[in-house]
Amino acid sequence: MDFGAYIHIPFCSKRCDYCAFATWDDKADLENAYMHALHTEVNRAVETGLAPVDSIFVGGGTPSLVNPHRLGEVIALLKKTEQCEVTVECNPDTVTVSLLQVYRQAGVNRISLGVQSMVPHVLVGLGREHQPENVVRAVEAIREVGFRSFNLDLIYGAHGESLDDWRESLQLALALQPPHISAYGLTVEPGTPLAKDTTRHPDDDDQADKYPIADAMFESAGLQNYEISNWAIPGHESRHNRLYWAQENYRGFGCAAHSHQSGRRWWNVRTPERYIELVTSEMSVENSSETLDANQMRDERVQLTLRRREGAALSDLPHGIPPELDGLVQVRGDHVVLTREGRLLANEITIRLL
Ligand SMILES: C[S@@+](CC[C@H](N)C(=O)[O-])C[C@H]1O[C@@H](n2cnc3c(N)ncnc32)[C@H](O)[C@@H]1O
Ligand code: SF4
Repeated sequence: MDFGAYIHIPFCSKRCDYCAFATWDDKADLENAYMHALHTEVNRAVETGLAPVDSIFVGGGTPSLVNPHRLGEVIALLKKTEQCEVTVECNPDTVTVSLLQVYRQAGVNRISLGVQSMVPHVLVGLGREHQPENVVRAVEAIREVGFRSFNLDLIYGAHGESLDDWRESLQLALALQPPHISAYGLTVEPGTPLAKDTTRHPDDDDQADKYPIADAMFESAGLQNYEISNWAIPGHESRHNRLYWAQENYRGFGCAAHSHQSGRRWWNVRTPERYIELVTSEMSVENSSETLDANQMRDERVQLTLRRREGAALSDLPHGIPPELDGLVQVRGDHVVLTREGRLLANEITIRLL
């Protein structure tokens, strides 16, 4: 069983109006105090016996905005297994060869780039600051520094994105020969500026048209779908993603970070100010927790495993497979897997199966 660490960096240069992550674009002045608190929290955990980790994921926010040396010092505190995957999420416009070299020296071996689209007017519609050229330059830098693997994050279904725009984005992204791609349908997150502007909400039919186009293009480029929204050249699947989907244990560090230990889930206080204050006064940063019972764990397992290529174990299904799911799911050995059509309806199918 793998064990992972998640490190949260809550800063962005400009907040995208579709994003609901715990991140701020007006708190850069907290960076020093935050990185100090993060160092302290990780150090305390290591000193009190934190197990060696099989994967580290530094997410945000925009981790590539903070001083890479400070981030490297935090990463260096964690004891790592030999095969440990260490990923840092980066915005294409903050990636430089010198930044990546510092990461590499700190043991980072995988970069995840927030690309979203390769079409300028779609990026503008999403409120992104970077241009497609930044992505090309960032990938060149990733190759030059010699990372083992990298990921491109794409979003489909933004307002004003035609099918041809999406095809163009996919072609340009694939031309960069990424070993891993995540493609998420734009979701309307409650409380975001996008949520208030109904004229820019994504259309379900449009997203349903775009998903199979992406899947077919990725598969013909050798990227295998291993979870509904994730494709990889075999051997480049994200260890950290797999750990979450397999309900394995992980420890989150930083504000708003979530942790899991054998069915107990807990999450840290949301704001960086409160987090810094609590760490400084040597108090717990835990905000709240929940413990899942065996049935809840099973339901969640079905939901997560069904999204994966291997599918959900038939033995986990409380009532078998209802006949109306014909064509949407398939039995393979002792597992049930989604068909390509089924992948578009994963949430509804999970509800029917439980
Ligand atoms: C926390 S962001 C980190 C990467 C980096 N900050 C960036 O955006 O370039 C991780 C990914 O979440 C995805 N994401 C965020 N909000 C989303 C939304 N409302 N719908 C779909 N994907 C979203 C984006 O693809 C983004 O790259
Ligand atoms: S999508 Fe990325 S850059 Fe945009 S606000 Fe969210 S975390 Fe920041």
